[in-house]
Amino acid sequence: GVAELGPYRHFMQKEIFEQPRAISDTLQGLESITPDLFGAQASAVLHKADSVLILACGTSYYAGLTAKYWLESIAKIPVEVEIASEYRYRDSVPSENKLVVTISQSGETADTLAALRHARELGMAHSLTICNVATSAMVRECELAYITRAGVEIGVASTKAFTTQLTALFLLTLAIAKVRGRLAPEQEAEHMKLLRHLPVAVSAVLALEPQIIAWAEEFSRHDDALFLGRGIHYPIALEGALKLKEISYIHAEAYPAGELKHGPLALVTDKMPVVTIAPNDDLLEKLKSNMQEVRARGGQLYVFADSDTKIVSEEGIHVIRMPENYGLLSPILHVIPLQLLAYHTALVRGTDVDKPRNLAKSVTVE
Ligand code: G6P
Repeated sequence: GVAELGPYRHFMQKEIFEQPRAISDTLQGLESITPDLFGAQASAVLHKADSVLILACGTSYYAGLTAKYWLESIAKIPVEVEIASEYRYRDSVPSENKLVVTISQSGETADTLAALRHARELGMAHSLTICNVATSAMVRECELAYITRAGVEIGVASTKAFTTQLTALFLLTLAIAKVRGRLAPEQEAEHMKLLRHLPVAVSAVLALEPQIIAWAEEFSRHDDALFLGRGIHYPIALEGALKLKEISYIHAEAYPAGELKHGPLALVTDKMPVVTIAPNDDLLEKLKSNMQEVRARGGQLYVFADSDTKIVSEEGIHVIRMPENYGLLSPILHVIPLQLLAYHTALVRGTDVDKPRNLAKSVTVE
C-alpha cells in the first residue's frame, strides 16, 4: 500500500534507498572476523576447504562473480562460479574439499537448490549459503549460513539483496583469509574500518540521484546500451545491464572493456550510449584507452568516475563523479548509480517497475 512506500514511488526506489540501513543491519554485531559468523561448525569446514564453488542465478550469480575476485586476491583460494541451471545438468569434476557456496535472496530458487543437491550427490559434503530468508529451504539444506539483513525485498529487480550479499561475501572472504593465515591484524583492522564506513559511503552515492535523473531522459530514447567494466567491476557492468533490461526493456549488454575490439565495437555508432564504470584502480589507464576506442567511433560515453580519476566531461563524454574511491569495496558503491539509472530510465518509459513483464521475484519452478 501507499503507506509502506513512504515518500517513494516504487518499492524498487525505496529498496535502493534502504541500502545504507540494509548493509548496516547485515553488519550488526560484527566485532571481529571469525568463522563463527557462519555457524558453529564453520571453523572446521573453512579450515578444510581448498577451493570454493559458488552456485547461484540472476543477480545473485553476479554477486558470486564479484566475490571470486575478493576470494582469490585476499584469501588466495581458487574459486569457480557457476550458473545453477547449467551446473546441475553438466558433467563436472568434483573435489571432496571444495566448499559449495550458494547465494540466494529468497532461498527458494529451484535451480540453485537442485545445484546444491547435485554437488552433494557428487561428494561435496560441505555447503554454506548467503541468504536473505532465514526460514528458507536453502538455509535448512546448507551446513553453514550467513543471513543478510536486507529485509523483505518486493521489487522484482534485486537491489538491496545484492549489496548485502556482497557485504556478506566480503566477510566470508576475510574469514577464509584468516583461517588460511592470510589476514594480518592490521589488514583486518583496515577492512573492518572500510566495512563500518560503508553505509555512510553508500548514502553519499545515493545523493547523486538528481544527476542520474538528468541522464535517464536521454537513455529512455535508445533501444540499446552497452556497459563496460574491467576486473572486479566487470560483474558490476553485468548487473547494471541486467537492471536496465529487466525494468526498462532496453536491450543492454555488458562487456569487459578489453574485449571491445573482439566484437561489440562493431555496434558502436553515435547512437549507442556506453555506460562506463571507471574506478580509480590499476586498470584505469587501460580503461581510458578503451574509452578512446568508443569515442573514435562516435559512441556516447556515460562514465561513473571516481573523483580522483581526472576523467572530465567533454564532447561525447558525460561524467558523474563518484564521491570517493572505495578500494576493495568499490563494486558495492559503483552498482548503486546503475540501479538508479535503470530505475529512472524505466520511469521515463512508463514500465511497470516493480513487476516487469514476464519476470517473477522468485523462480521456484524450473
Ligand atoms: C529472479 C529474480 C532476480 C534474482 C534471481 C535469483 O530472477 O527476479 O532478482 O536475482 O531470481 O533469485 P534468488 O532468490 O535465488 O537470489
